[in-house]
Amino acid sequence: MRNKVERQMLRSTLKKLEAMGKLEVCNVEVNPEYELGAVLKYYNNERPMLFNRVKNSKITVVGGLYGSREIFYDLMDTTHEDRIYQLMNAIANPKPTKLLKDGPIKENIITRNINLPKLLPIPKFHGDDSSTFITAGVMIIKDPDTGKTFTSVRRFQINGGNKISVLIASAMLKNQIEALRKGNKPLEMAVVLGYDAPYLLASQLSSQLYGVDKHQIDSALRGEALELVKCHTVDLEVPAYCECVLEGIIPPDKSEVEGPFGELMGYYGGVAPHPIMEVTAVLHRNNPIFQVAFPCREEHFSNGLVREMELYNDIKRLMDVKDVHITMGGGYRFHAIVSIHKKNKGEGKTAILAALGANKDLKHVVIVDEDIDIFNPDAVEGAIATRVQASKDMVVIASAVGSGLDPSHLLEKASDKMGIDATKPVGEIGKGFEMAKIPGYEKIDISKYL
Ligand SMILES: Cc1cc2nc3c(=O)[nH]c(=O)nc-3n(C[C@H](O)[C@H](O)[C@H](O)COP(=O)(O)O)c2cc1C
Repeated sequence: MRNKVERQMLRSTLKKLEAMGKLEVCNVEVNPEYELGAVLKYYNNERPMLFNRVKNSKITVVGGLYGSREIFYDLMDTTHEDRIYQLMNAIANPKPTKLLKDGPIKENIITRNINLPKLLPIPKFHGDDSSTFITAGVMIIKDPDTGKTFTSVRRFQINGGNKISVLIASAMLKNQIEALRKGNKPLEMAVVLGYDAPYLLASQLSSQLYGVDKHQIDSALRGEALELVKCHTVDLEVPAYCECVLEGIIPPDKSEVEGPFGELMGYYGGVAPHPIMEVTAVLHRNNPIFQVAFPCREEHFSNGLVREMELYNDIKRLMDVKDVHITMGGGYRFHAIVSIHKKNKGEGKTAILAALGANKDLKHVVIVDEDIDIFNPDAVEGAIATRVQASKDMVVIASAVGSGLDPSHLLEKASDKMGIDATKPVGEIGKGFEMAKIPGYEKIDISKYL
């Protein structure tokens, strides 16, 4: 059992992070109201941190786990070059999960007098947030027709006692809840906390687009069967080695007002009625570690990775794409930079069309040549400064479908799209755009000089 405990989910992640020297430990008491989130935000949600003393709780909190690109690659056992293929391979080859009779998550099962604010150190992040929020929870539901498991990160507003509001933006889940409402049936669900990077990444695939069982995608991503146990009060399976699970139902006939909440781009989102979850059981390991994600960016990186894989494929169909970057500043969804090996006139513009046409959230895209490092903002700016003439190289499309996470979209309920073709011309004329090079620069050993 001991070895297994260290193989999957949060505790194995913490071991890896410790071994990599990437885990900060805070032994000073922090208040889950504002202070804890402020510390995570200070490091841009890119520094994994364990908080051993959280005010009014005996439970250790962890945050900032999956916000750093480099750390995420290491936790996924992948490289920048392989990240896209690893994900594509998992989608094409889902692998079976393994159901265990028992697992550490069932060490403690609470079914009576569930009072979430008392049980768990749930943070409040921003001054005008309507309540405390669980922001790192992965929600599990099952498709009643196919038996497939769908996981996704949702935010959960704590409404007191055993009740939480569930913010649902996805079309598929909205439809499912609608169908249940018509049939007056509850939807069984579970919320998982204390997971690892493959579990998070698998959850970020669109169910509507891929229709895959996300637990099986997880098995493919981690290279071994995801080990699961049956829930206690609902007919679902959860990771055997995660830290905490909330089991419950979404009743067909109830909703409560949700929000405001400081969202992805740092603005407060809307206030509206949303479905609620009634928690029927809380499962947790001995000495559980409560997982938190500051609600700006941290775990959206994994969402951005899926978008990078999709954008790469959308452009690959048409030309020789080299790399894609969905940027942090654009909330891992609004901005993309793409490098291509341009072989024909017009490929810069075609890449713009492909990118803006494929994803409704993407707002601005810049296409550059392969000699530009798309992860270096100065290099991208340099290409825009020297390879763009706005009257010819800029494409603007007015009033297309956009995302409600962008407040400027909300003004007209539509979003303008812009593409910048910062590629150089092909052929003889393109030679004037070659970068000056220092022979031997790549091989220089700087320590020799200092
Ligand atoms: C940190 C984070 C928070 C998210 N919060 C929500 C949310 O509150 N509501 C929502 O519908 N989607 C949210 N998402 C997006 C979904 O998790 C994601 O789109 C997922 O792929 C949807 O899966 P589905 O297609 O099975 O619905 C969030 C994603 C991340 C990374």
